[in-house]
Amino acid sequence: MTINTIATTPIEGQKPGTSGLRKKTHVFKQPHYLENFIQATWNAIGGVSGKTLVLGGDGRHFNKRAAQVVLRMAAAGGAKRLIVGQDALLSTPAASNLIRINGADGGIILSASHNPGGPDEDFGVKFNTSNGGPAPESITDRIFSETQKISEYSIVESHDVDLSTPGTTRLGDMQIEVVDPVAAYQALMEKLFDFAKIRALFASGFRVRFDAMHAVTGPYATAILQGVLGAPAGSVVNATPLTDFGGGHPDPNPIWAKDLIDRMMADDAPDFGAASDGDGDRNMIVGRGLYVTPSDSLAVLAANARLVPAYASGLAGVARSMPTSRAVDRVAETLGLQCYETPTGWKFFGNLMDDGRVTLCGEESAGTGSDHVREKDGLWAVLFWLNILAETGQSVQDLMRAHWQRFGRNFYTRHDYEAVEMDKANALIASLRARLSDLPGQTIAAKTVTQADDFSYHDPVDGSTSAHQGIRIAFEGGARVVFRLSGTGTEGATLRVYLEDVEEDPARIFADPAEALAGVIEAAQQIAGIRSHTGRDAPDVTT
Ligand code: G1P
Ligand code: ZN
Repeated sequence: MTINTIATTPIEGQKPGTSGLRKKTHVFKQPHYLENFIQATWNAIGGVSGKTLVLGGDGRHFNKRAAQVVLRMAAAGGAKRLIVGQDALLSTPAASNLIRINGADGGIILSASHNPGGPDEDFGVKFNTSNGGPAPESITDRIFSETQKISEYSIVESHDVDLSTPGTTRLGDMQIEVVDPVAAYQALMEKLFDFAKIRALFASGFRVRFDAMHAVTGPYATAILQGVLGAPAGSVVNATPLTDFGGGHPDPNPIWAKDLIDRMMADDAPDFGAASDGDGDRNMIVGRGLYVTPSDSLAVLAANARLVPAYASGLAGVARSMPTSRAVDRVAETLGLQCYETPTGWKFFGNLMDDGRVTLCGEESAGTGSDHVREKDGLWAVLFWLNILAETGQSVQDLMRAHWQRFGRNFYTRHDYEAVEMDKANALIASLRARLSDLPGQTIAAKTVTQADDFSYHDPVDGSTSAHQGIRIAFEGGARVVFRLSGTGTEGATLRVYLEDVEEDPARIFADPAEALAGVIEAAQQIAGIRSHTGRDAPDVTT
């Protein structure tokens, strides 16, 4: 085996964001670009000599080529064993599970999550650590600093490794195990949930539609929902992963999964609709005639967890990212559970789960998960819902209505302003920051500010601090607006405005969300001057 050492120079901008390094695919395809980043990752973790790693991706354009490069660089670094999904496919939660059950030292996931794929779209690389979760900031900072001083990388010379069939092969001294991407994940789901109950639900005529959005969960959902649980063929749609996701955004929200929403609002709608994203960690839940916000979904799972075998003995605690609505806080308070508020991004939940402080966590961006892995998990959330519905016999609508009646309702929406010029977006945030101490006490659009700050998180487990995680403005009566800039975009800046208002009066909890939120939307506009700063009259995406 020949190891080539290639001279290189640092490439600007290789700073991992909210979830790994994400760039346009053509950027990743530039000479040395991927190689520099992978070598920087190896350098940041003290090399891969003698280590076991997991490798897979969401199947987007460049996935297969990039996997071959990672394999050759792992072999060059002296890795002992690589566990790779067949055809270089693994959903993010399945990769997390494989890292954990194999006691691996970490893993590389090739994905830009819900961003579109293809030669002109996005690609990404995430590094996960031995607990199966996304690398914490201490490691991503080290990777970035390695990218800034890299001078060479090592790669073995070889033909492409055949990843098309499960089995064991070698690349030099490194053992490569090509595994069925679904098998271990399916076994884990069977342990967590009452499959017999869900099977009986389907057998009773309960109809489900799962939209895999031409992304990686297709094979998983087909095997589990149709294969094991007996949902009729055709329940899982868009089930074959495509390199460009059929030209769409593989993002499970009412905008990009509009077809599913339309079907769920129709007279002959199935009982339950769901979708997942590019790499299978996000989920959208829709009942007949009702879209469930991700924040509400987290609250419902927390409130009903005891109905599910894996969580029957209760939850250790719950956590949500800061911009996620406080619906789950209400459940935690009622059930006497500890509730943590973390910055945006799954990596902040890892410590809390490793330390046994939380069992369930979630984000408003369609991410829910538990300590069964260290990533959010789309199909897991769907099975959790199905298990609850099978157990209670309720429809999604009835369950949600009963939930709001018991806990009150947090109306919620997020407005995204995309591809805003970076300096304009920064100016908007800077101007808010400058006024934080003046805002409390002011009444804006009939709403009185009670608190305003720039969220700073102190990790209770490792003592680290993450500052500047978003501007929070709270109003009298429980409304809240949060402003932050996306850390996953690849074009300009994306301004995210998170809007929430609280309703406890049972007579008003079934109000139209748009009407319930009109006041806080106006207050947000006036406080931040979104129009004057960005020149935009309306958000590009509302979820
Ligand atoms: C977005 C979401 C965030 C999620 C991340 C990765 O990050 O807002 O909740 O963890 O994608 O899926 P953002 O672009 O806001 O930084
Ligand atoms: Zn994702």
